[in-house]
Amino acid sequence: MAKQILVTGGLGFIGSHTVVELQNAGFDVVVIDDLSNTTLKVLDQIAEITGKKPSFEQIDLRIKQDVKNFFDKYQVDGIIHFAAFKAVGESMHKPLDYYENNLGALVYLLQEMRDRKLDNFIFSSSCTVYGQADELPITEKAPVKKAESVYGNTKQIGEEIIQDASKAHGINAIALRYFNPVGAHPSTKIGELPLGVPQNLIPFITQTAAGIREELSVFGDDYPTPDGTAVRDYIHVVDLAKAHIAALNRLIEKKNKESYEFFNVGTGKGSSVLEVINAFETANDVKLKYKIVDRRAGDITAAYADTTIANKELAWKTELGLQEALKSAWEWQLKQK
Ligand code: WQD
Repeated sequence: MAKQILVTGGLGFIGSHTVVELQNAGFDVVVIDDLSNTTLKVLDQIAEITGKKPSFEQIDLRIKQDVKNFFDKYQVDGIIHFAAFKAVGESMHKPLDYYENNLGALVYLLQEMRDRKLDNFIFSSSCTVYGQADELPITEKAPVKKAESVYGNTKQIGEEIIQDASKAHGINAIALRYFNPVGAHPSTKIGELPLGVPQNLIPFITQTAAGIREELSVFGDDYPTPDGTAVRDYIHVVDLAKAHIAALNRLIEKKNKESYEFFNVGTGKGSSVLEVINAFETANDVKLKYKIVDRRAGDITAAYADTTIANKELAWKTELGLQEALKSAWEWQLKQK
């Protein structure tokens, strides 16, 4: 009998790619999404890729009774929790919306796990919790620093809530601290669908190359880095999705060493903004219009992962590089109307 996994936010960018890999790995999937930042079309696209349509419930996880009703209807063997607001800039203007959605919903899910003795919880966290790390590459031993954004704070507090619930109620849980997710599924049927003006680098690049945006602004070239632009660890979203399957199997097979664990999920390689621009132009044989402007408030100089622990404990490593991510992002962009 196939195990059934709940994926909240399963029609989002990382969620949808993870649903595909879960189905490829033989799991049954039920998706919860409130459709606030995606469309139901993504469900059909997932079915086109895997040949199986996941079960779907449109639920706002901030409504406690609706969360209860869901678990009256579905038996699940694990939960992968993506559903959250994730715009760093927006979070500074709407802190209470972010705390309510990103933490309230998390508490309601964990209360159901406690009351129904459910197990195996995977949490979408972020390298943002490290702020500007003192040492690079960043290991899991790096201290969590005071968050620079409300969004980052919701990830830090979220991890603490999970850790406490795990200890008190025996829920086995893993937090995955993502570096920068980029790219799209090779089928170009699913990808990043930023609504409005993109905040993140890669969608802004692809929309500029597609003529939707006039010009890319490079936020600062006076950082203490080789070419002066900020450095990040850009991980292909398909590799990132597979890390969730590896983490889930670790819990299902009871290979976890603690009831709560966390892992840095990146490629281990840092790329500057200018390097990404050059790689995009080379990979796709396009010219990108950009200008250097002032730094963006809250940005850090550099972040890239030490992947030793994740590689070993999850028996997982990235297989796709930046070129493939940038090619797939461009192919996905070209398919958008
Ligand atoms: C990357 C680099 C910018 C846009 C954030 C969150 C993180 C995760 C990913 C959700 C930076 C530069 C960007 C642009 C630019 N979010 N840039 N011009 O800020 O590293 O991480 O998004 O899961 O949690 O913190 O990603 O893509 O916004 O920026 O020069 O138009 O590109 O300054 O150096 P970031 P990003």
